[in-house]
This record gives sequence, structure tokens and C-alpha cells, in this order.
Amino acid sequence: MIKLIHVVGARPNFMKAAPVWNAINKMTDFNQVLIHTGQHYDKLMSGIFFKELQMPAPDYNLNIGSDTHARQTAAIMIKFEELVNELKPDLVLVYGDVNSTVATAMVCSKLSIPIAHVEAGLRSFDRRMPEEINRLITDQLADLLFTPSKDGDANLIKEGIPESKIHFVGNVMIDTLVRLLPKADIPNKFQNLNQYVLVTLHRPSNVDDARSLRSILHNLEMISKSIPVVFPVHPRTKKMITENDLNILNNINFHLIEPLGYLDFLGLMKRAVTVITDSGGIQEETTYLGVPCITVRENTERPITVSIGTNQLIGQDIDRIPDLVSHAVNRKKRSNVIPSLWDGKTSERIVETLIGYCKNIS
Ligand code: UD1
Repeated sequence: MIKLIHVVGARPNFMKAAPVWNAINKMTDFNQVLIHTGQHYDKLMSGIFFKELQMPAPDYNLNIGSDTHARQTAAIMIKFEELVNELKPDLVLVYGDVNSTVATAMVCSKLSIPIAHVEAGLRSFDRRMPEEINRLITDQLADLLFTPSKDGDANLIKEGIPESKIHFVGNVMIDTLVRLLPKADIPNKFQNLNQYVLVTLHRPSNVDDARSLRSILHNLEMISKSIPVVFPVHPRTKKMITENDLNILNNINFHLIEPLGYLDFLGLMKRAVTVITDSGGIQEETTYLGVPCITVRENTERPITVSIGTNQLIGQDIDRIPDLVSHAVNRKKRSNVIPSLWDGKTSERIVETLIGYCKNIS
């Protein structure tokens, strides 16, 4: 019996781990353990996803919570080291680029436990982003690197990772999207909206500075005078809005709401005129759905969403948003170009590779 540990910690991990967990669950020769670091802990940032994505409740929760980067990363390492020494896994799977990913990869590496990194090789080449640091370190330490697109392979090779460790398997998050798309619908509260713009913003570069957040909110409020805007607000953003008294309540077309679960958000995304975001995953999901995406960032670690998908980077050029929105309103048809291997079968390819790898190490 091969013992695998999956580590999840923050919201974008859950939709990546779920399909891999479910694919491995069909195999008889694996025993899997799910560890949640507790980096995200609110029901709406964490709990709701396990039910919707049909994942079991975590076997262990490290209950780390929020803190500075160093303190959060260190706390995860200390607790995870104890647990992993007790569980003695044959391999640990880590996902994406959050602090939980790098913290647990560092622990495994020093204990000589093989690491598989799902969503390897993505690079924004912007080291001001904490996620870029997490990606660089995790990829250096991983033994198996599963990439979502070929640019990932090229980045890893340039960084000296041996080709034998790199496996281009496609985008695992799209497995979840493909499976749940038929079940996803617009939440009742918004069923009467014919057209709307969907917004998510949580990057420190956009929301931690009150002036920048105020300017974004001002633009969104202007847009909402001609088309409704639905904005599920991330806790980090909510905190800034409250602390700086930025709440905009004078326009009934501007819907600032609590974070949504996976199905409600996907339901809103698939029918949106356009999505305005600074998330990584949403750039990919909109590419798959053919929904125009306006990304409020200078760069992206997912360039394929710009080169063949529907994504447009606007940096800090917030004033461009109204024009781009009206362009999206007037567009005649959806794009239907989907990157290679974003086909809903990535988790199967991951499992095949894991089986081969584990045979060699056992
Ligand atoms: C983290 C990830 C980011 C990912 C994002 C998705 C890192 C470095 N960042 O950023 O890559 O895109 O998750 O959401 O790992 N908070 C709550 N409840 C929660 C979680 C957070 O209220 O359940 C609040 C806390 O005030 C906390 C703040 O949100 O301080 C930020 O949370 P944190 O996990 O530090 O980073 P995110 O901004 O969520």
C-alpha cells in the first residue's frame, strides 16, 4: 500500500486537489490522507468547498490561520513536520503557489520525502508577488512537477530542472470545472439580471493600498450605472473597505456581497458579460468558458490565457475598464479556443504518472 498525503490550505487549492483525490480514490493500492493547514478557515473561504467539490473532510487540520508571511509559513512547517514524522508518507502532493504549498514542500524536502507539485512551472517573473517566491522554491524542491501548459515546462528547464521530472499533464482545475459546470447556476438573488459584470479582487498590490482600492471601486461604481456589477468580496479586501470607510452603498446596481461557494461563482462566471479580476485561477476559468477577462495586474504567470485565451492585462490602467466593458457588452460571439490538455482529464494523467513513479520508489 502506498501512502500519499495531499496538502491544502487556501481557497485556490481545493478545486485542484479534489479531482486528484477522487481519481486516486478509485485505485486500490493507495492510501491517502488529506491535511488542511487552516491557512483559510472561514466557512465561505474553506468549509463550503469540501461539500461542493465532493471531497472528504480533512483527516487533519493544523488550524494555522492568518499571520505575517514568515510567521504563517513557520507555523505550518512546525506543525506539519510533527505530523509527517508520525504519518510517514511515501509521497506528498502540494498544489499551486500559496504559503501552505511552499511551507510543506520545505519540510518534506529536508525529511527526504518525495514531493509532487501540481501546477508547476508557472512564472510571472515578478518577485514582488509572494506567490512567485512560493512557486520558485517549491519547483526547486519537487521530485515530480506537473505542468498545466508548455510554457511551464520551458520555465522549469531554464531553471535547471531535469526534463525527467517534468510532466505536462494539463490544467487540473479545469477537471473540476468540466465536472461541475452542468450543476452551476446563477444564485437566486441574481437570476433576474440579464447582463452583469463579475468582479473579484484580493491581491495586496490592488487592495492593500487604500488609494488604489478607492480608485478601482470608483471605476466599478461608474460602470454599475450602466450595467450591474456583482462583486463577492474577499476578506482581505473587506477589511480594507471597512477600515478605510470605502463602502459604496448609494447604487443598487453595485452588489458587494460575501465570498461565494464554487457552484454559485461558476454559475455567475459562465453568464457574465466580462469578469474583472486579479486572481490567477479565474484567468484560466474564463479562458475555458470563453468569457472576456480583464486582469488588474501588470503581469501574469498564466501567459497562455492572454496568447490564446480571453484574458487582457491592464496593469494599473484602471481607467480603461469602462471601455473594455462596453466592448464586451457589444461582442457578437464567444471565443472557443481552449489550451491543449485543458480537457477534464488532467487528474487521470497525474494518477498514471504517480503509479509509475511509486512503483520505482517502492
Ligand atoms: C492567499 C494566497 C493567494 C491566493 C489567495 C486566495 C498566499 C501567499 N496567498 O491570499 O495566493 O490567491 O489566498 O484567496 O498564500 N482571511 C479571513 N478568513 C480566511 C482567510 C483569510 O478573514 O478564511 C483574511 C485575514 O484577515 C487574512 C487575510 O484574509 O489576514 C489574508 O489571508 P491570507 O491567507 O494571508 O492571504 P490571501 O490574501 O487570502
